[in-house]
Amino acid sequence: MTAVRSEPLTGTLPHQAAALSFPPGFTWGAATAAYQIEGAAAEDGRTPSIWDTFSRTPGRVRNGDTGDIAADHYHRFRDDVALMADLGLDAYRFSVSWPRVQPTGRGPAVERGLDFYRALADELLEKGITPVATLYHWDLPQELEDAGGWPARDTAERFADYTALVAEALGDRIKIWTTFNEPWCSAFLGYGSGVHAPGRTEPEAALRAAHHLNLAHGRAIGVLRSTVPASARTSITLNLHQVRPLTASAGDLEAARRIDAVGNRIFTGPVLHGAYPADLLEDTAHLVDWDDLVRDGDLAEISRPVDLLGINYYTPTLVSAPDPSATAGEASRNDAHGKSDHSPWPGSEQVVFHLPPGETTAMGWAIDDSGLYDLLRDTAREHPGLPLMVTENGAAFDDYVNPEGAVNDPERIAYLHGHLSAVHRAIADGVDVRGYFLWSLMDNFEWAHGYGRRFGAVYVDYATQRRIPKSSAHWYADVIRRHGLPAADGRA
Ligand code: FCB
Repeated sequence: MTAVRSEPLTGTLPHQAAALSFPPGFTWGAATAAYQIEGAAAEDGRTPSIWDTFSRTPGRVRNGDTGDIAADHYHRFRDDVALMADLGLDAYRFSVSWPRVQPTGRGPAVERGLDFYRALADELLEKGITPVATLYHWDLPQELEDAGGWPARDTAERFADYTALVAEALGDRIKIWTTFNEPWCSAFLGYGSGVHAPGRTEPEAALRAAHHLNLAHGRAIGVLRSTVPASARTSITLNLHQVRPLTASAGDLEAARRIDAVGNRIFTGPVLHGAYPADLLEDTAHLVDWDDLVRDGDLAEISRPVDLLGINYYTPTLVSAPDPSATAGEASRNDAHGKSDHSPWPGSEQVVFHLPPGETTAMGWAIDDSGLYDLLRDTAREHPGLPLMVTENGAAFDDYVNPEGAVNDPERIAYLHGHLSAVHRAIADGVDVRGYFLWSLMDNFEWAHGYGRRFGAVYVDYATQRRIPKSSAHWYADVIRRHGLPAADGRA
């Protein structure tokens, strides 16, 4: 089935000047991840990742959905790249599946796996779209989890080897490399609350995982710098939490400090400043022996310079001091990514999470574009001189195909308009934001929520694999063409 393109994506709106223009060179992109779209789970030598195992475990993923077929992008990538070209994308952010290119996580690469990414990158380059590759978007080879997973130091070594295989094969094609997507989720949802693969609920393991993800990042940066052309840029993508205290009380400020430490500074500290924050070490000292975990030389490796920092933002995080009337389990709940009685915040389990005010998306996440502005501003202040890139931003809504065969999603247009306005405001105030990647190019496997949550600008009918650009896709194409935002947010 080919992509449906009944009308040119850019031809649907009147050609007007942008009300808010973006700087020359600002990159317009869209993002996806391997396990969420590729399918072909057992083809061409690919072995299971922790997400294959997790999704096949009853009760882990809504509806028992798996990524076995997903959006079948492995077989349809040429049509999907054609859709990206219709959108006018400058860049496409995708991830490389570790178990597809290095089954079991050890040993030589499988050329057929690498060929897929070579062909994808070639197709993009041919259409003038810059390939942006993420090396790890959560699909650890299951055999490496069986050997201990991210809590085991050896996994960082394995990641450096895997990086070398990919960098050698694709180094001439990829313009921007990202080591990890949201290591917070890998460490704390994977090993803390257990709502993501591999579904473990061990606070010490979660903290150990965080350090080994940092170490793997630093080693991969070293490998990339010695392998890929000097012109290629390197980065990491963090889901920095825009943490807000419920009130200005000392208790609420302390709660915000704690979540900022174990949510953000556990990564930005070592990666950007070469040290774990003292308050984090103190908050978690009863859970892990940091002196044993962090070996001589680790911090120097972890803090190898990156060229860009990727930021994923969806919603702010509102916290308050522990509620003495709540039980421990209740107090620690933060169900943003799925329900669990275990906290993804080791050492700060008693902090209480609140739903920020305002409308919510189908994920139940509050819509608040001021959070993106504040996050960009604060990050730029804390790490001056580091160019930023919004590598994910978007929203899930209950999209459906109407009797005319179209998918109208004015709420998504309003969400994107608001958040792009926030990016524009941050740039106007001096923040160096180089680009914006919409999450997601198309509907896909939304982790523990399965196919029940749609984030795409392009609708995917999973029964037929037909693609239907939503009205937000037409809107985004117009934004790209204008290199800026129209005056209104598209709502009637
Ligand atoms: C982010 C993930 C991405 C997607 C969005 C909704 O945390 O990086 O894969 O699931 O959330």
